[in-house]
Amino acid sequence: MSHQLATLLDEQRRFPPSPEFAAQANAQAGLYDEANRDRLAFWADQARALEWIEPWRTVLDWQPPHARWFDGGKLNVSANCLDRHLRGPRRNKAAIIWEGEPGDRRVLTYWDLAREVNRAANALKALGIKKGDRVAIYLPMIPEAAVAMLACARIGAIHSVVFGGFSSESLRDRINDAAAVAVITADGGYRRGQIVPLKRFADQAVAGCPTIKHVLVVQRLMGTASSEAGATMTPGRDYWWHDLVRAADAKCAPEPMEAEDLLFILYTSGTTGKPKGIVHSTGGYLTQVTATTRWVFDLKEEDVFWCTADIGWVTGHSYVVYGPLANGATVVMYEGAPDWPARDRMWEIIARYGVTVFYTAPTAIRAFMKWGTEHPAAHDLGTLRLLGSVGEPINPEAWIWYQQHIGGGRCPIVDTWWQTETGAIMITPLPGVTTTKPGSATVPIPGISAKLLDAQGHVLEKGGGFLALTEPWPSMLRTIYGDDARYHETYWSRFPGRYFAGDGAKLDEDGYWWVLGRVDDVLNVAGHRIGTMEVESALVDHPLVAEAAVVGKAHELKGQALAAFVILKEGNRATAQLRDDLKDHVARKIGAIAKPDDIFFVADVPKTRSGKIMRRLLKDIAEGRALGDTTTLADPNVVAKLKDQYESEEG
Ligand code: WT7
Repeated sequence: MSHQLATLLDEQRRFPPSPEFAAQANAQAGLYDEANRDRLAFWADQARALEWIEPWRTVLDWQPPHARWFDGGKLNVSANCLDRHLRGPRRNKAAIIWEGEPGDRRVLTYWDLAREVNRAANALKALGIKKGDRVAIYLPMIPEAAVAMLACARIGAIHSVVFGGFSSESLRDRINDAAAVAVITADGGYRRGQIVPLKRFADQAVAGCPTIKHVLVVQRLMGTASSEAGATMTPGRDYWWHDLVRAADAKCAPEPMEAEDLLFILYTSGTTGKPKGIVHSTGGYLTQVTATTRWVFDLKEEDVFWCTADIGWVTGHSYVVYGPLANGATVVMYEGAPDWPARDRMWEIIARYGVTVFYTAPTAIRAFMKWGTEHPAAHDLGTLRLLGSVGEPINPEAWIWYQQHIGGGRCPIVDTWWQTETGAIMITPLPGVTTTKPGSATVPIPGISAKLLDAQGHVLEKGGGFLALTEPWPSMLRTIYGDDARYHETYWSRFPGRYFAGDGAKLDEDGYWWVLGRVDDVLNVAGHRIGTMEVESALVDHPLVAEAAVVGKAHELKGQALAAFVILKEGNRATAQLRDDLKDHVARKIGAIAKPDDIFFVADVPKTRSGKIMRRLLKDIAEGRALGDTTTLADPNVVAKLKDQYESEEG
């Protein structure tokens, strides 16, 4: 057991909610009883908080593993996020407070946002994009990202947001898998003072995408940067966003959507080389993201909510856009890096806008810790009243640091466990109800059932095992786009009838969950999900590489970092230059987030007799255990020599 894990499981500290917070909290303990009494009636109550065009006939139709929630009901997500707030005092409330990395700022009120979304929706329609069409969105963190998503939702087009840090090849594969008809991108974005030339990447992608008819380009770059970034426009295919949107009518009637119509596809890494298109639907998704935003982040009319996730991840979908806007909240959006131009950028933003609820990832918190307390201490963080964590297990040291140095000792922390597939938060404290333990996501939210299973699928009351979800939930994925067989196989075959999340976990004597991390070949690098096979495919795509095996190794800041074991094709020499080339190659194929930290050139990748890569041995080597000192790998045969000893253990 790693040192970090040991500290996690020894954690004894308890933090009950303060009486003041508890008294004003949106979510009270009675919610658990309500949900336990009648789960479906409970979720139906939550769905009634939305505005429906037509009521549903059945709350749940469950034909495992396919769920239909609120079947027969009709609604429109953008109308729920916008139109209903325009009728009252929220009309001129800030919906999005945005700050660009270079320091430019914009505020969009609900009315501004609605106008932009209506216009964009009409612009999409004018291009012939209609209900059911797939639209790829490849944008930096700018308000137009939210506008584009909501515009798709308004006309019933299905969006597929691709993180702006992904490469053109990743974008191409995702566009082709979904057969998208259009891409919405920008001339570029700003990141750590550099320009990310998104349009150039989009052009490279679209060259290999036969289904793409149109490319819409938001002008984000300032001054001469746009032409410098090489954003060239292909006549008849490409349009400037501002030309089309400005000319479009500011009223577009929201398309009445079936509750089970698709809202979006979001690709995530799995255990094969090919990312999975996770499919989310309309009514159930919006019901659960809206309810969890209200309960978990305790949003009130005057709150300013900042979820730091990029729109390219599910956290950005559910808790930057849909959940907060459905609740009529004010969100902060920031384009760039947390340490640009200085290491206090986040705290400066919190102080500038009076952020009250802040939601970020443990990997960021560990970086903040390392940078030093003087940065938060230099700003007034007194408006904060609640803190959140997501993406990976939070180590107790980081939890306590967050509570002390960001929360000033007064803010409850909600450690939220969920996944791209779950769509919304599943396991978390309710901030006014649950006593927290640093490092534990605590208990499932009302209306959600999780069970700890052993390898045979028996339910365990406590101890270690596999985390499974035993009842369907409103915001669950509906399938994998275009591959329902893979949906069955990936999530429902390990423990038939139950959803296997891919995570190992521990349940303590109080029934609290301690999620320990993935037990499959999926890694979590700085809160980003990366499939080992994807990186292996990228490596063997290099002309000099014969074979590759990738494992995660513990990393102080990122949680996990990638280590790659590479066998070169005969006659090639392992050089430092080649090592750098391979790293760049992976960045080009997938994106910079998938760049291995270490590359070891070896003569052999150890495999079991059945041909499975012995990842545990490789991990031990990468973390310096098996050999004591990984530099001895300079002798490429050394891995082969270790193999026998491990083979007997691994079977
Ligand atoms: C995986 C899902 C949910 C949005 C961000 C990631 C890990 C997520 C926690 C947490 C321990 C966590 C799990 C999960 N994870 N949140 N609070 N504690 N682990 O979404 O990319 O779909 O990754 O992230 O391993 O399976 P994702």
